[in-house]
Amino acid sequence: MTSGCLISVTLILVAGVLQQGYASRILGIFPFPSISHQIVFRGLTVALRERGHELVVITTDPINDPTLKNYTEINVNFLYEDFNEDVDWIATRKKRTWLGLCHDIFPRLIQMTERVLNHPEVKRLYSPESGEKFDLLIIEMLVWPAFLPLAKQFDVPIIGMTSLGLPLQMQYGIGNPIMPSHPAHWDAEIKELGRLSFWQRLQNFVHAWRFVHFYRTDYLPRQQAIAEKHFGRGIPDVADMENNVSLVFVNQQAPISFVKPNIPKIIDIGGFHVSKQIEPLSKHLQRILDEATQGFIYMSLGTNVKSVMLSDETREEFLAAFSKLPYTVIWKFEDDILIGQPDNVIIMKWAPQQSILAHPNIKAFIYQGGLQSTEEAISHVVPVIGLPVFADQDTHVNKMVSLGVGTKLEILTVNRTGLLEAIQSVVLDGSYKQRMLKLRDLMEDKPYDSLENAVWWTEHVIRHKGAPHLHSTTADDPWYQRQDMDIIFIITTAILTALSISAVVVYKLMAYCIHLLNHNWQMISKKEKTC
Ligand SMILES: *[C@@H]1O[C@H](CO)[C@@H](O)[C@H](O)[C@H]1NC(C)=O
Ligand SMILES: *[C@@H]1O[C@H](CO)[C@@H](O)[C@H](O)[C@H]1NC(C)=O
Ligand SMILES: *[C@@H]1O[C@H](CO)[C@@H](O)[C@H](O)[C@H]1NC(C)=O
Repeated sequence: MTSGCLISVTLILVAGVLQQGYASRILGIFPFPSISHQIVFRGLTVALRERGHELVVITTDPINDPTLKNYTEINVNFLYEDFNEDVDWIATRKKRTWLGLCHDIFPRLIQMTERVLNHPEVKRLYSPESGEKFDLLIIEMLVWPAFLPLAKQFDVPIIGMTSLGLPLQMQYGIGNPIMPSHPAHWDAEIKELGRLSFWQRLQNFVHAWRFVHFYRTDYLPRQQAIAEKHFGRGIPDVADMENNVSLVFVNQQAPISFVKPNIPKIIDIGGFHVSKQIEPLSKHLQRILDEATQGFIYMSLGTNVKSVMLSDETREEFLAAFSKLPYTVIWKFEDDILIGQPDNVIIMKWAPQQSILAHPNIKAFIYQGGLQSTEEAISHVVPVIGLPVFADQDTHVNKMVSLGVGTKLEILTVNRTGLLEAIQSVVLDGSYKQRMLKLRDLMEDKPYDSLENAVWWTEHVIRHKGAPHLHSTTADDPWYQRQDMDIIFIITTAILTALSISAVVVYKLMAYCIHLLNHNWQMISKKEKTC
């Protein structure tokens, strides 16, 4: 045994002893029906369990592994249906603004919140007789503030977590500096990167504040009402509880996002969901990919955006382009049959994405621009072709294009020539892959492991029963003080008033002088006449 081994064994033993003292019960609430969100949360909860804590997790995608001790799951998988019922996400792209889309989606989220709170197992959990005791609440900080009063009931601190960048309205809530006119947040209206024109910045500015206003005056009160219905009228304001969370774990890594200032309670958890160990492929798929000696293309639009939502015309464009390729195409397609399927196209209802991306024969990844897929593509050095649909997807694809590791196509109007050109340029021009390699190295060059860091911060909050030392008092300021708007307003008004007064005085003085001069001229000319 080398001394390195000895030291690590000793460390593990010490950690084991330490964790006895700290074993805590943690409640996790992650209702968003999207596997790409869930694998991030799961990464943390499973690691916390391995540290010796006991977890109770409300999730749409339970692991369902009975051998996992101290890990209880409450399955709310029905939320997938609630969220996606009768919506064609690709069609919603025609509705341009994010605010407009949220106006339509938010009533759905209210119903979903209500359904989770009515779930028998969840009800039992929060009923006063349950006798449940916890040390911490970890909650997806996206659209679920009605669950926050649970922290009050169990008298525990709260950690917020998102699998994406933190939505603007929550950055505002916790007092993070927001940059309303910049594309610094994924929910900006204009998602172009780089310099924006004044007009674009104005649009972003108005949109950002309208969104914050909508969230705080429309959505939060409705979430408050649901919370009061289930937890009683005596609960604190959910808006306050949201603003006061101890920490927020956010997935926003500098190399692939807009670099911006953040307060210390924002902890970057970037990319820890990417598997360190790749699951082996099924024999069947392994053979197909091994035999694709010319290379293969993998296409998936994620879980909520489904390939079956593509219009017939668009699907035909894809098939026409694919049929001209010398490569095999693996398409995550949710139907049993694909009409007009060319020989080189293979459809699968579910695809082991990370294992496929890890295969050496892969040439390119056609996707919808989801953040987790982006991170996986980078981790496996696969150039991308993005066809964003909604939410943060445009921002990520734009970033990939600006870094020279992918191209972007418009999903509503894409045609066969555009697709072929995009695939050929990404595959045949080796510079995409080279830049991807550099990006991967950059992303992996970190001083610490993101997951271990997140576990440390979680235990920090448990040890100190909260983290008020990280609270920014900006969160307690009214909106007009946040960006010194009142001061700028007063100074501007004062300068304008002083300028107006000066202008009036100068005008009056000049008028008086002209009057005097005229008067004198008249006197002189009168004198001349009388002479
Ligand atoms: C389960 O958690 C308790 C503390 O809550 C701990 O004492 C016990 O060892 C854990 N069991 C396992 C199998 O990890
Ligand atoms: C939130 O924090 C502020 C300032 O620290 C405090 O005054 C307020 O009572 C807190 N509200 C809740 C609901 O925790
Ligand atoms: C196909 O799409 C490309 C852009 O992707 C566009 O330049 C071209 O004009 C389109 N062709 C047709 C026939 O619509």
